[in-house]
Amino acid sequence: MKDFFKLQTTIKPEIIQKHVEYFDRRNIAAGNTRVMMRLVDFIERDSGEKFIRMEIGTPGLNPSQIGIDAEIAALKTNIASVYPSAEGVTETKEEIARFAKKFLNLDIAPEHCVPTVGGINGAYATFMVAGRRYKDKDTVLLIDPGFPAHRLQVKMIGLKLESLDIYEYRGNKLEAKLEEILAKGNISTLLFSNPNNPAWICLSEEEIQIIAKLCEKYNVIPIEDLAYLGMDYRVDYSHPDQPPYPPSITKYTDYFVLLLSSSKSFSYAGQRIGMMLISAKLFDSKFPDLTQYYLSEVYGPAITYGTMLLTSGGVPQSSQAALAAMLRAASDGQYQFLEETKIYAEKARIMKKIFLENGFQIVYDKDGDVPIADGFYFTVSFPGLRGDELTESLLYFGISSIPLSSTGSLRIEGIRACTSLIKMEQIPELEQRLKLFRTQMAEM
Ligand SMILES: Cc1ncc(COP(=O)(O)O)c(C=O)c1O
Repeated sequence: MKDFFKLQTTIKPEIIQKHVEYFDRRNIAAGNTRVMMRLVDFIERDSGEKFIRMEIGTPGLNPSQIGIDAEIAALKTNIASVYPSAEGVTETKEEIARFAKKFLNLDIAPEHCVPTVGGINGAYATFMVAGRRYKDKDTVLLIDPGFPAHRLQVKMIGLKLESLDIYEYRGNKLEAKLEEILAKGNISTLLFSNPNNPAWICLSEEEIQIIAKLCEKYNVIPIEDLAYLGMDYRVDYSHPDQPPYPPSITKYTDYFVLLLSSSKSFSYAGQRIGMMLISAKLFDSKFPDLTQYYLSEVYGPAITYGTMLLTSGGVPQSSQAALAAMLRAASDGQYQFLEETKIYAEKARIMKKIFLENGFQIVYDKDGDVPIADGFYFTVSFPGLRGDELTESLLYFGISSIPLSSTGSLRIEGIRACTSLIKMEQIPELEQRLKLFRTQMAEM
């Protein structure tokens, strides 16, 4: 690391050092986004400088007005005094099933569609049940790099974790590597997101098919996290009921969990509303080992009554009303949510160019043979610095990020950049700061 007191920086080094020490460098290395947010808030307050904020995936767009209106209308009835049911509001479940048909061509019954307190709650509940259904299958496999919260959840629950950094195993190379891991027999469930956080890797139909085939072979439940549904903007997935549909494991196996979220698709992150779609076969499957934790050995009740209800007490009905309204409008073709979020790809394209012009490299640079798509996140590195060092060094130049080490990535030199919060009018500022960073890092 440089002695920043000897360099020209955007923020006074003493301000950065005071706060980095207070919040502890280990939190930076761990990619603790909420801590990073707080740290940057304090630095902004003390320095009077606005940061280029790339540390957290908060949507940068206004929340869907359709959702807000439906939520207000719902609250004006008496629902606020009534406990929600464990399975979710009937209308919301019906709209989830309809949306899945319209945007994924998936046939699923409303009873198998469960509203959740965000995608994060769906993943937690799934790890709790899918991850504990056999005593001898005690390990969760994460296809990495991935969302840091998922690995923390697995750890919190007390399950073992195995990670597969997919960079070296794209395309048909995935099969042998995945088989090597699954053949050990200890993996209960496997999670991947598509497009993924943090690298914006978009798995292909071929790769998804491999995952489905091997999960079936080794009795592993695949958890497909489509928090960024359809946001591979190289293909137009925006028309309900019209192919092409995004690649999905639901096409290749009848034993799956699919997680969806309103946070990024509808910019509705604050109201914590997501969806868990469980295949009929899995929903009704019996796992005797579950009785160690639950009253029921059947997967469906173990997850709804046994887990969701006992952890959150149910999902607020007002946000379920918002979700139903947003899904309905999207399915009816009246709410073009994918058009609205396209701006992230445009920002990524411009930002990546500026990073590359200033000595950075894209870490996860390819999807198969083609350059990685532009979207919500991208990953970059700078010669000679580890990801945590780069994250800390960029703070001196008013730019915040998280290191890739927190995402299960083997590429510890990289950081994750999130495009959502940067405003187009801040792009020249980003360019200026990165130019300064580059020249100062070249100083002896
Ligand atoms: C891959 C992935 N899954 C799930 C989530 C969480 O979504 P939610 O806000 O619905 O809990 C995120 C949020 O950033 C994410 O990146």
